[in-house]
Amino acid sequence: PVSVLLALALGYAIGSIPFGLLLTKAAGLGDVRKIGSGNIGATNVLRTGNKALAAATLLLDLFKGLVPVLLAGAIWGSLDAGQHLRALDPSASGWPIYASPEAAAALGAVLGHCFPVWLKFKGGKGVATNAGVSFGLGWPIGLAYALIWIAMLAIFRISSLAGMSAVVAAAIAAGVFGYAAFVPVLALIALLIIWLHRANIARLMQGTEPKVGSKE
Ligand code: G3P
Repeated sequence: PVSVLLALALGYAIGSIPFGLLLTKAAGLGDVRKIGSGNIGATNVLRTGNKALAAATLLLDLFKGLVPVLLAGAIWGSLDAGQHLRALDPSASGWPIYASPEAAAALGAVLGHCFPVWLKFKGGKGVATNAGVSFGLGWPIGLAYALIWIAMLAIFRISSLAGMSAVVAAAIAAGVFGYAAFVPVLALIALLIIWLHRANIARLMQGTEPKVGSKE
């Protein structure tokens, strides 16, 4: 059981590094929380006009999700190489099959990104970090996430809509591709991320949600 709590803490520690804020400050662009939506994610970093910095934020925020999940797997390894959690012995950790160290690290990373203690718990919305989480939990989940994200972005050019679609797709993909034990954690993360997008959803319904690249 201790491994699950340690994995949660590991995920939170890595996930709570606010790369968007650190990079924009280091580049002399000021506080990204004072522009656009006030979010610290790549979408809002792009509103500074610096594309390279936005790309770096996206990539680093993605790694914040990927790294703890892979580390948790390597350290506490409840996964039987390539067999996902089907081969897991539930008695080994004493926790239910869906509360594996990998799932705990995934949840921790997203919680860390969205609620970083360093920023008075006001962080990002978790879309990039959950992309990394999805790749870490299983490459087909990550692939589904990336494909839906990119396709929705290409069609509608609205970051929040694409992100929320990808987040839901990941939970469904986990069930479809044989990662049933990861469906609960991905569904929980999806609910959290959608809730964090409630202001975006209101704007989407009013037709006022900005497109990617616009300054608002
Ligand atoms: O990942 C955040 C994105 O979905 C929306 O960002 O800044 O438009 O609220 P923002």
